[in-house]
Amino acid sequence: MKYYLGIDIGTSGTKAVCFDTQGKVMTSKSVAYDLLTPKPGYAEENPLDWIYATKETIREIALEGYEISGIGLSGQMHGLVLLDAEDNLLRNSIIWCDNRAIAEAEELIHHFGNERMKAITGNEVVASFTLSKLLWVKNHEPDIYQKIAKIMLPKDYVRYCLTKAFTTEYSDASGMQLLNIYDKKYAKEILEYLELTEANFPKLMESYEISGYLTEDVAKELSLSTHCFVVGGAGDQAAAAIGNGITERGDVSVVLGSSGVVFSPILKSDLKENKVQVFMHAVPNTYHIMGVTNGCGLSYKWLKESLFADKDFNELNQKAEEIPPLSSGLIYLPYLNGERTPHMDPYASGTFIGIRQNTTEGHFVRAVLEGVAYSLKDCFELLPNGEYKIRISGGGAKGELWRTIIASCLNEKVERITQAEGGALGVAILAMVADKVYPSVSDATKHIIKTLDVTSPKDSWVQEYKKGHVLYQEAYQSLKKYYEKAFNI
Ligand code: XUL
Repeated sequence: MKYYLGIDIGTSGTKAVCFDTQGKVMTSKSVAYDLLTPKPGYAEENPLDWIYATKETIREIALEGYEISGIGLSGQMHGLVLLDAEDNLLRNSIIWCDNRAIAEAEELIHHFGNERMKAITGNEVVASFTLSKLLWVKNHEPDIYQKIAKIMLPKDYVRYCLTKAFTTEYSDASGMQLLNIYDKKYAKEILEYLELTEANFPKLMESYEISGYLTEDVAKELSLSTHCFVVGGAGDQAAAAIGNGITERGDVSVVLGSSGVVFSPILKSDLKENKVQVFMHAVPNTYHIMGVTNGCGLSYKWLKESLFADKDFNELNQKAEEIPPLSSGLIYLPYLNGERTPHMDPYASGTFIGIRQNTTEGHFVRAVLEGVAYSLKDCFELLPNGEYKIRISGGGAKGELWRTIIASCLNEKVERITQAEGGALGVAILAMVADKVYPSVSDATKHIIKTLDVTSPKDSWVQEYKKGHVLYQEAYQSLKKYYEKAFNI
């Protein structure tokens, strides 16, 4: 029997899942770590935590007796990992939801112009993408900057530690904002501006290609063989899309993870039309559009940890079920780490409006679930016109209430599949394709992925959420100026 590991290097922890060739979960392990917020707007992680978590989870799975043929890595995107010439880490990683590089984003807009940037990278300048962060290090930590030998994304640092391959793949790399996504090469003019060369960046490959094999030391440490390979893998969103069978135009993946995402594949010929962010998919020659709300699961986790630490999520969900739609007028804007789609506003902050004497715990919870649903509706409305089939996944999709709120808010059915391991399954599928278990990614997903259930919109809620969404949008417009003024207090 052959087994493949999908490893998801996420924001709150790393999870390794062992699959057989039919996509059946044999076992899974996870290790959590801390998100560091040294200042408002800052978000960092220690890359050594990812390495510890990855090795620990793989080792535990190997000790259960699974001989692993190949590994796929799925990673939180847009992070910055810096190594010196001796491969020492130069600083903590500045991760995807960090918004410190606002001035650097403005500097890039001033130098290149948003139109030019979009023509090269597919997106206007984004303060939380790797490019702006790299420029922040150049401007604020010049001693570190001059020692930089290698620049990597989170999962590619994990790959480097496992295999010594200095490699990335297109889906994650296209989120660095350093790639010309039309010719699939690093953009010379951007590297020149950073005073860096291609030698500082990992080699580019397709997601299903083998990037390297476990080094002897690592194989021994993890009780695996040096024949165990690591494929290119994918950024977490492309990985989750594959794990949900989202490979073709018309498919939409809604992911309720730390961030909330609306993801849909497009063709190169669609590229110029996009109103949302564009990246490369982990399926060859395919791109995808993506709307992202920064504070999805992060909002619910924040609420629980900060206000209701004595309750578990089941209790909180039950309390929210007792509350009517629109949470008796309590509205939540999920902008804990600024907002990406549609506002691209790093100053925006999480907000409750409408707290009254009779507001209860259940109102707060329901308002958070609804606020995230409104932000996903903002993303969904930016997809090109057409018929869409929506699949929903991620930790948040386990809750029926949240699924029904989202289905009603989007006024679309949302389907779940039997496999709940989205990103981990997606990259394990890539490893299976590399090992020729399946001829292509879409052959594999058609064979492996099966529908579990479909959640339909509730008619009476659809009307309520139309009203709620308008209020939600108006609230942001009214608060926009205030957010910027309050940002540095
Ligand atoms: C995608 C994004 C998030 C992070 C963390 O653009 O920022 O999905 O990768 O999940």
